Formats: sequence, C-alpha cells, structure tokens
Amino acid sequence: MGPVTEVFVIAIDGPAGAGKSTIGRALATRLGLEYLDTGAMYRAVTVAAMREGIALDAPDAVAGLARRVVLDVGDGGVVVDGFDATAAIRTTEVNACVSAVAANPDVRSEMVDRQRAWARQRGGGVLEGRDIGSVVFPDAALKVFLTASPLERARRRALESGGDVDEIAASIEARDRMDRERTDGPLTEASGAVIVDTTGRAVEDVLDELTELLEGCR
Ligand code: DC
Repeated sequence: MGPVTEVFVIAIDGPAGAGKSTIGRALATRLGLEYLDTGAMYRAVTVAAMREGIALDAPDAVAGLARRVVLDVGDGGVVVDGFDATAAIRTTEVNACVSAVAANPDVRSEMVDRQRAWARQRGGGVLEGRDIGSVVFPDAALKVFLTASPLERARRRALESGGDVDEIAASIEARDRMDRERTDGPLTEASGAVIVDTTGRAVEDVLDELTELLEGCR
C-alpha cells in the first residue's frame, strides 16, 4: 500500500525523551484531533510476544504475531488481545527489547498499514513515532522533528519513571543508535520536517510555535 495523502495528518517524530508524547497529545487536544502513539504499538507487540513465550529473535514468529494480535492503543490505555498492557509496555524489560521488534521489517509493514488505516478512519490525526513523517505519511500537512539535549531527555525519563539519570542517558543513547542504524524505517529527520528543540521550553510555548507553523501550511 502506498502513502496516503487524503487525510489531515500531523506527524511528530524524534528520539526518546524529546517530548513527542507530551507535545503530540497536547497538540491533538488543542486542535480537536485524535492522537496515536505508534511506539505503544511496537511495545504492545513486544508484550504480546513475551506473554506468548515467542522468542524475539524468531522474526517470522514475531511477524505472525504482529499480524494476528488485536491491538487497542488509545488515550485511556493499551489493550493487547484483551489484556490491559498499559503498565507492561513501559517496563525496563520492554524498553530493552522493543527495538529488536521494531527492527523486524514484517512487523513494521503490518504496523504501518494499521497506522494508515487508523488515520484514514478518522480523516487524520496527530501521529507520533520514529518514521511517521519519513515513511508512514511523507505528505503529512505538518512534519515536526522534536529534539532536546541528551541530558534533558534523560532527566525527563527519570522524572517519569525514576532511576539514575546517567544510566537512563546510556540506555537512551543505545536505543537511539539501534533506531538510527536499522535499515527499515530508521529514526531520521523526514525531508520537509521542521526541527523544533524543546530543551528548557514550556509545553505551551512549543504548542504556540507548532500552531503558527500549521497556519503557514494551510
Ligand atoms: O517512542 P517509544 O519509545 O515508545 O518507541 C518504542 C520503540 O519503537 C523504539 O525502539 C522506537 C520504535 N518505534 C518505531 O520504530 N517506529 C515508530 N513509528 C514508533 C516507535
């Protein structure tokens, strides 16, 4: 299936801790659109594989699971085949394993199809994830690549889930490297994306900038 152009999509990409979820959710609320956290989808497939005892280094088995799993990724939480995985998708175990699942091309192709279908059903929305502007919706109305300094990103994660800032910074860097180096849908600034640095900025301030950019795109 090729890219979808007939829907009003705002694509928010960027590395872990850059503010994608906070900004994406708040922007969707401000614009009266729905919001999809696509990272939660890869996390949910990872949880489902762990629950079913499927080895994450068995690509065909994980891809088969990705195709059949029933995912409900909403603002209220994440349900995987009837199991409430809202907490499970954020564990350190899943943090450590999800990049391997997200590097599986067949899993990606299934998730991309589901993301396009999600947006098509709603006429658009705010979608957040590593490849939304580069692969899933290259013709999005607005493509934003959020960044923040590595230290600020680690501090935000530490505030969210506790833990040592230096350790978190190391794990964020390792994950960034995997996400950037994979051949299929790597983390990269999409062509035409506006790079917005959120370091030290209030959410409202970033939202004002994005709303202005959007006015310029309409
Ligand atoms: O944004 P996050 O930390 O919840 O993402 C979890 C993992 O999924 C991370 O390794 C990047 C990957 N991912 C991806 O490859 N493509 C997306 N559209 C979203 C997330």
